[in-house]
Amino acid sequence: MGLHKIKTCDEMVKNSMIQGAEATVSMGEFLGRKALIKTRPEKSYRLPEIDSSIRNSRTRNEARIMRDAREAGVRTPCIYDIDLSKAELTMEFIEGESVKDFLDSNPDKADEICEKIGLAVAKIHSAKICHGDLTTSNMILENGEVCLIDFSMGCANAELEDIGVDLRLLERAFSSAHVGLESSFEKLMDTYYSNISDPKAVKRKLTDIKNRGRYT
Ligand SMILES: Nc1ncnc2c1ncn2[C@@H]1O[C@H](COP(=O)(O)OP(=O)(O)OP(=O)(O)O)[C@@H](O)[C@H]1O
Ligand SMILES: [Mg+2]
Repeated sequence: MGLHKIKTCDEMVKNSMIQGAEATVSMGEFLGRKALIKTRPEKSYRLPEIDSSIRNSRTRNEARIMRDAREAGVRTPCIYDIDLSKAELTMEFIEGESVKDFLDSNPDKADEICEKIGLAVAKIHSAKICHGDLTTSNMILENGEVCLIDFSMGCANAELEDIGVDLRLLERAFSSAHVGLESSFEKLMDTYYSNISDPKAVKRKLTDIKNRGRYT
């Protein structure tokens, strides 16, 4: 979904609601605070009971993983409210620009930002959390700090395989979105490996995944 282009609340209000493949996000308020409301609308092509179970579990999963990631020391939006009857999350609105847009316009700052991404990913993986959709569109730069969003595909109790796949997806997403920033991506990975407990095992797993060719 393309809402990462929206940088301010005003712009967001103008666009007031944007529909993605699975989720709709809109601006709102919660107890006087700016909020982002993420809803998973019904899908008529699914059996109603299956549809509501999928929408509920993704909503619950996203809220839980976001909280676990914050407990692991990574900036994520606070969840203000969950309404399972509508598969809707109300969360803190993060003011800032997507890391994707920021890197597009500030490639000279890429090393610095990539080190922050590497550290954030190392923290979630060290807590056995995988994100599931690590792209620079799912990261917001808030006062120079990286905030991770969109944990709907994430998992807790991640195994080495999940962690390897998370990194492989990050590598692929980064290399296609940020041509020319390969050396910054290496810095991202260096920072990542310096901040996890068993870098050798993860490197081996990542090589395995690449050789398997499942994701290439
Ligand atoms: N807490 C937030 N604060 C500010 N902007 C947000 C926040 N959450 C989401 N956004 C904006 O809305 C866009 C879409 O949100 P998100 O990435 O969570 O949904 P999605 O990619 O459509 O979802 P999904 O992959 O779960 O179907 C983001 O790219 C970002 O621009
Ligand atoms: Mg997203």
